[in-house]
Amino acid sequence: MSQGLSEALVLDTLKTVKDPDLHRDIVGLGFVKNLNIQNGVVSFTIELTTPACPVKDQMKSECEMKVRTLPGVKEVEVQMTSATRGRPSFERASILPGVRNIIAIASGKGGVGKSTITANLAVAFAKTGASVGLLDCDIYGPSMPLMFGLVGQQPKVTEAQKILPLEAHGVRIMSIGFLATENAPIIWRGPMVHQILQQFLTRVEWGELDYLLMDLPPGTGDAQLTLTQSASLSGAVIVTTPQEVSLIDARKGLQMFQKVNVPVLGIIENMSYFACPDCGKVAHIFRKGGGERMSKELGVPLLGEIPIDPEIAETGDEGVPLVASKPDSKIAKVYQVVAGAIAAQMSVANMQSGTQGPSVDIKWETKKS
Ligand SMILES: Nc1ncnc2c1ncn2[C@@H]1O[C@H](COP(=O)(O)OP(=O)(O)OP(=O)(O)O)[C@@H](O)[C@H]1O
Ligand SMILES: [Mg+2]
Repeated sequence: MSQGLSEALVLDTLKTVKDPDLHRDIVGLGFVKNLNIQNGVVSFTIELTTPACPVKDQMKSECEMKVRTLPGVKEVEVQMTSATRGRPSFERASILPGVRNIIAIASGKGGVGKSTITANLAVAFAKTGASVGLLDCDIYGPSMPLMFGLVGQQPKVTEAQKILPLEAHGVRIMSIGFLATENAPIIWRGPMVHQILQQFLTRVEWGELDYLLMDLPPGTGDAQLTLTQSASLSGAVIVTTPQEVSLIDARKGLQMFQKVNVPVLGIIENMSYFACPDCGKVAHIFRKGGGERMSKELGVPLLGEIPIDPEIAETGDEGVPLVASKPDSKIAKVYQVVAGAIAAQMSVANMQSGTQGPSVDIKWETKKS
């Protein structure tokens, strides 16, 4: 039986296209919008849950290819857009209205490259068209002023006493480092830590953000607990290095989030290997596969493995994250893939929380991606 071209037929065909992360078809997910058929020209929009979707191009081609085979189709026009969604949460709505997803980047141990990763990931997110903020929560050793070349700059304060974040490489940034005078040691004690972090969470005027990345201080102490409990986090990412000692600490971090029901989106293994710039040969300086083992053991995804690269350190010190200074480099692409993986896992976690239904969802229209 031959069928004529109709909206129902196009939708039936699009039902065979699945989102690989959400494991559901794109029609059921409500991604297909503005379907129109005119003189054999089929046009529709696919609205993803994040502009950083790692399979955006693949999904577009699959839709085009499948619809093109239908009888009577002369042309297929697919427009990819996104509307980042977050889990509706009363606490977050009142603390940070307009921020859709708050993702903490944590590590059990210091010096594993957490700040470097957060800076590069923020730029990688911004490059996908997402609106991104970065909150440097490391009140003892803030890194972001240096990493973004903003040392000595101070944020403006509005009449309503809100602090406006600074901006660099498409990222809105706030750091305690902007408020402290250079070289002055910052000594915050117990209750002050709590207070300053609370202020940080409530007084910054972020505007609308798809993602707010929080660079947490290392460890699982008071400051981390305050942040984990007060910020109403949407998700957390744990950074580790391949050494076993670092994995033990990372495990503690993971448990901290799981205890307060913050979904752990996955693990990033930093300084995984060294690729010789001359011959390309890969050397695993530390034990291989620690992040992978931990991901299996704890049942959370391994979001990526970032190699040791002298340029990562150099660009950080020069005030321009590598993803901004060398966007086409291999390492920048690794960061881009990791950002995509985080965005995908965040969408999965939001979906699993069962609050993606349009009637209860906080949803903002965003630009095309
Ligand atoms: N993949 C990498 N390759 C080479 N150097 C790196 C890499 N990742 C981080 N570094 C360097 O390692 C040092 C520590 O990194 P970073 O400050 O980001 O760590 P951190 O976990 O935030 O530390 P802290 O616990 O002090 O906050 C920095 O000098 C940074 O440039
Ligand atoms: Mg740091």
